[in-house]
Amino acid sequence: MTRVETAFQPTEMRSSRPSPRRLALLGATGSIGRQVCDLVERHPDRFTLHVLVAGSDAAALEAVARRHPEAHALLAHAAGADPIRAGRAIDEAVSDPEVDLVVVAAAGSDALAPTLAALDAGKDIALATKEVLVMAGELVRERMRRHGSQIFPIDSEHSAIWQCLWGEHHRAIRRLILTGSGGPFLRRPLESLETVTIAEALTHPRWKMGPKITVDSATMMNKGLEVIEAHFLFDVPYGAIDVVVHPQSVVHSMVEFVDGSIKAQLGIPDMHLPIAVALSFPERLDGVTPAPDLAALGQLSFEALDGVRYPAVALAREAGERGGTAPAVLNAANEEAVALFLKGQRRFVDIIPSVRAAIEAAQPTDDLTLEAAIAADRWARTHVRASAGGTSPVRSKLPA
Ligand SMILES: NC(=O)c1ccc[n+]([C@@H]2O[C@H](COP(=O)([O-])OP(=O)(O)OC[C@H]3O[C@@H](n4cnc5c(N)ncnc54)[C@H](OP(=O)(O)O)[C@@H]3O)[C@@H](O)[C@H]2O)c1
Repeated sequence: MTRVETAFQPTEMRSSRPSPRRLALLGATGSIGRQVCDLVERHPDRFTLHVLVAGSDAAALEAVARRHPEAHALLAHAAGADPIRAGRAIDEAVSDPEVDLVVVAAAGSDALAPTLAALDAGKDIALATKEVLVMAGELVRERMRRHGSQIFPIDSEHSAIWQCLWGEHHRAIRRLILTGSGGPFLRRPLESLETVTIAEALTHPRWKMGPKITVDSATMMNKGLEVIEAHFLFDVPYGAIDVVVHPQSVVHSMVEFVDGSIKAQLGIPDMHLPIAVALSFPERLDGVTPAPDLAALGQLSFEALDGVRYPAVALAREAGERGGTAPAVLNAANEEAVALFLKGQRRFVDIIPSVRAAIEAAQPTDDLTLEAAIAADRWARTHVRASAGGTSPVRSKLPA
């Protein structure tokens, strides 16, 4: 059997996997988390939920826990609780010997610590939270090597690349081609981006996702973060990772090989599919989604990325190439700028300049330790918040 020879290219699940597979789910109440629960409920013979973790929404977590009474449910930010003790309890829960697979779908950089704890316990990870790899990709790689753990990507683009690479040799890869829909503002006149409202930025033409990633899709910072994620997942240099705009979101990404072949993975835009691939690997579940109807689609189109409309992709690439703590600064500055936009305290067009200003002001270190990544994250957030006053906020409300 041929293999892709990188630390991140698993070709077989350990044979001792029990069925049903016992999952710890971080981000149980979010967009990805709800779809994981849905798959578990549709396939009780294949999966059970052993641990459920959410951020602060106790009522939503309780609703999930009621359907899975056997699961240990935990909140990271319960009102009045000590966050350090809560963090420790989560680290212990994901490291429980009973857990077979840890699904990481918690929002943003909060997911880093429990992911590292799970890797240290030798757990395999199904990873949705790209911020973990952006913030600390080197560290994650090192922990995986040390403990023999694997990562199964959930992000649809990386799932597509992963599937294209099954059975291939790493040396046969010429480049990875990430596709992106371009989000809601692909055709909108550039001048009118000044007045983008929160509701407009949260209306993605193809995907239903949580608010942060939906705004990232509108700026295409999401694609920039995915370039860094792909670099760490597949051990491919930045110069061999391209982005192409594909408005239909049917081709989820591609791999070009040295012989001139391109392999692509196609599917309807529905996260159930990449989630199912990660949870059930190396098998496939029956009937997760309908396959795309190609004749009904008629056309699939691709276009070059417009760097003026979407400067975030080049900015992320630069931070990735700079390495060290630079991607952690990028990630945290972006999370903070998006959060300010979602609170109505910053304009949409100010998000990426805020991130750029943080990167330019930062003094990233080359050595990436957990402490350095956390310090860079905190510094970037403070920098973005401190410079928040300079622009006139657009006042609009989240859609009901
Ligand atoms: N949604 C998608 O289709 C999609 C696709 C590809 C990749 N992703 C990635 O997947 C991740 C999750 O995205 P999402 O759209 O599902 O986000 P989301 O809908 O905003 O959900 C976030 C989840 O994380 C929980 N959470 C917050 N802080 C936490 C903490 N400290 N520990 C554990 N859980 C915590 C939230 O709980 P509370 O509600 O209680 O705060 C919620 O359950 C993101 O990194 C995103 O980039 C998402």
